[in-house]
Amino acid sequence: MKEVHTPVLLKEVLHYFEGTIKTFFEGTVGAGGHASHILHQHPEIDLYMACDQDPYALEIAQKTLKPYENKIRWFQGNFANLDRFAKEANVGKIDGFLFDLGVSSMQLDQQERGFSFKKEAKLDMRMDVSQDMSAHSIVNDWSLEQLVDLFKNGEEPFYRRAAKSIVDARRTGSIETTTQLAKILEKAIPKIGKIHPATLVFQALRMAVNRELEVIEIALKKAMDVLSPSGKIGVISFHSLEDRIVKNIFKNASEPQKNIRGQVVKEALFERLTKKAVLPSKEEMRINPRSRSARVRFLRKIGLFKNG
Ligand SMILES: C[S@@+](CC[C@H](N)C(=O)[O-])C[C@H]1O[C@@H](n2cnc3c(N)ncnc32)[C@H](O)[C@@H]1O
Repeated sequence: MKEVHTPVLLKEVLHYFEGTIKTFFEGTVGAGGHASHILHQHPEIDLYMACDQDPYALEIAQKTLKPYENKIRWFQGNFANLDRFAKEANVGKIDGFLFDLGVSSMQLDQQERGFSFKKEAKLDMRMDVSQDMSAHSIVNDWSLEQLVDLFKNGEEPFYRRAAKSIVDARRTGSIETTTQLAKILEKAIPKIGKIHPATLVFQALRMAVNRELEVIEIALKKAMDVLSPSGKIGVISFHSLEDRIVKNIFKNASEPQKNIRGQVVKEALFERLTKKAVLPSKEEMRINPRSRSARVRFLRKIGLFKNG
């Protein structure tokens, strides 16, 4: 199988999806890396819904997944709209969901998309190029307090200094490019270890441009609603903020509802297949350094057949 992109935690993902799958929804098909392996391992799949908000990613995935084209239905848009996509495909229940969150190495490598502070480009960072909000509008139009909140939530320790340096720089003209912004941040944020001072600010901007945290909860709740009995949801995240959201949603879903006296009033409908997030093996981290911050969690709908 020709790989355009190395899918992370592939072995683990395939392991947790063992069992029969007829309908599958992948929210983040990217270059089609996970998809090609899932489709190969599950010849019984008769509908694979492949979604990505990035039209360029879908073009690549369409080539990678050519051998399976008659099973695939393509959706360009946000995975938070998965209920609408399922309706369009006329599907009531879905047996498996995969979300491999964040940005792809392909997007980082496309210089003109403006995701990387190392490559000169117009400030952009939109995964969905048809949307209005971009890194340019946040950096140039948001108030000091909005930027402070954004960088603080993004866990940048020098969040106020970072925000102030941007607002100060704007006085002499707008901030147009990635490297211009990186230079402003280099002066404001001390370098700690090997990490470039602009790293966390760029990450926070990317997450805000693409509403990355907001949509996780929306999508997981919708996925849980349409999941078949014994169906599974897998989520790969690269950031503790993302993982925390997934962890809490999966934990709450797998606990029975109790009344104020502590008596169970409703049994849990889901169980966690991974109580703790599963990390890549040492071998994977060695071969693919990008996998180092990845982790995966799986939730299963309790169904009629425990080992289905
Ligand atoms: C890490 S890559 C996925 C790589 C893919 N699993 C593979 O093996 O090729 C993440 C992809 O998800 C897309 N993406 C991120 N958030 C999204 C969202 N909310 N809705 C739809 N696509 C999203 C990005 O555009 C990117 O192509």
